[in-house]
Amino acid sequence: MRIDIITLLPRLLESPFSHSILKRAQEKGLVDVVVHDLRDFATNKQKQLDDYAFGGGAGMVMMIEPIDLCISKLKSERDYDEVIYMTPDGELLKQGIANELSLKGNLIILCGHYKGVDQRVRDHFITREISIGDYVLSGGELAAAVLADSIIRILPGVLSDETSALTDSFQDDLLAPPVYTRPSDYKGMKVPEVLLSGHEAKIEEWRYEKSVELTKQKRPGLLGE
Ligand code: ADE
Repeated sequence: MRIDIITLLPRLLESPFSHSILKRAQEKGLVDVVVHDLRDFATNKQKQLDDYAFGGGAGMVMMIEPIDLCISKLKSERDYDEVIYMTPDGELLKQGIANELSLKGNLIILCGHYKGVDQRVRDHFITREISIGDYVLSGGELAAAVLADSIIRILPGVLSDETSALTDSFQDDLLAPPVYTRPSDYKGMKVPEVLLSGHEAKIEEWRYEKSVELTKQKRPGLLGE
C-alpha cells in the first residue's frame, strides 16, 4: 500500500511515521508513506498557498492551483483508490472505515488549514472526506496521522501477533477486555484467578463477558442500546 499525504507542514508529519509500528511497517515494505510539501507546487513568486475568501469574512482559504498540480502529478504516476480530505465536517472515522481503507492500494490524504480549501477542490478532486472527531484541530496533519495509523497497523504482517488487531476494541463492536501482566499480586492487588488458570476456554469466556460488561457500562451505543 502507498499513502501520499499532501500538507503545508511536512515536518509536522515526520515524527508519527518514524517510530515503532509505523516505522517498521515501512521498513518491511508493507506501506510507503510519502509526504508532499504543498509549497513545492506554489506557482507565484511569493510561493503563496492561501488567499482571502471571496465575499469577505475572516480566515484564509487554501488555493486550488497548487493542490491541483500536486494531485495531478501523483495521479499521472499511478492510480489512486481514494483522495481523502481531512476535515471536521467529514464522515466520522470509525474502525470500519479504517478496515475498509486498509484493503485499498493507493491513497492520497490532503490536510486542510486555515478556513479550509477552496470548495472546488472538494467538489472536483476529493472522493472522501473524513473527520477524526467533533472538535476542530489547527490543521489536518494530526488527523491524517491518526487515519494513516489506524489503517497501517491492521495491514497484514504489520503487527507481529497476527491476531492482536482482531481483538482490538471496536473490531467486533465491543470494547477490549482488561489485560494484566506480572506480578500476579502487587501489594495485594490481584490478577483475576481465571487468567492464571491456564484454562483457555474459561479465559476466552471471561474475556468475552468482560468485553460485554465494559461495553454496556462505557459505550452502550455500540450494542445498539
Ligand atoms: N481538521 C481540523 N479538525 C479536524 C478534525 N476533527 N478531523 C479531521 N480533520 C480536521
